[in-house]
Amino acid sequence: MSLEERIPQHVAIIMDGNGRWAQLRGKERAEGHMAGVEPIRTCIKAAIKHGVRYLTFYAFSTENWGRPTAEVEALMELLCRCIIQETPELKAQGVRVRIIGERTRFSERVRSFLDQIEQETAEGERLTMVLALNYSSRDELRRATQRMAAEVAAGTLTAAAIDEQCIAAHLDTAFMPDPDLIIRTSGEQRLSNFLMWQAAYAEFYFPEVLWPDFTAEDFAHALEVYAQRNRRFGKL
Ligand code: FPP
Repeated sequence: MSLEERIPQHVAIIMDGNGRWAQLRGKERAEGHMAGVEPIRTCIKAAIKHGVRYLTFYAFSTENWGRPTAEVEALMELLCRCIIQETPELKAQGVRVRIIGERTRFSERVRSFLDQIEQETAEGERLTMVLALNYSSRDELRRATQRMAAEVAAGTLTAAAIDEQCIAAHLDTAFMPDPDLIIRTSGEQRLSNFLMWQAAYAEFYFPEVLWPDFTAEDFAHALEVYAQRNRRFGKL
């Protein structure tokens, strides 16, 4: 297989560095998040161009509620505004949007926007864009475990039937393949509670660039780096 053909099916991105980007320019942190929307658009276009089928963004973690109220509110507003503004273009591009994470913590208004973008883009067939919102791996595993326990209690699942496939089927990500490539920008080299179960055999790429500065060339370079990796899945 040629390098060009080794395209990851699923790329997941930890968009880090918005705060530092803003700080370097003497701006509010929220402005860094606003500047972080353009590279999302860029990555969607690049993913479609290169034939990536799933693109996941870690947009808001369960821990992010601990940030100053003004920053959390700014992120929620940005999310709603982006949904209103971007939905037509996403539909035109054939992008299906799915949300992972626990939604009940969001306001009713935010939840209705999340439902709306999923419904309106449900027919998209070129790319599935996944937004991780109020998401963390440990919380996802907690929720999956609760559901399995409830099924065991109801008699629809036996403890002995809980194998790896069963666990994966109870995770938020049950509808998609595991990530092949995980990118984290800004030079930090951590998973930070993101897709920990699903990342078992993922390749990692940690560019120094701050998220708002991430370009289509950076995305293409990440795919090149991935294509050169030797994935063995624990085998020889
Ligand atoms: C991490 O940078 C980034 C986030 C916590 C938010 C990511 C959100 C966006 C890119 C905007 C789009 C958002 C939505 C909800 C659609 P950081 O603030 O931790 O940066 P720092 O490490 O430099 O402080």
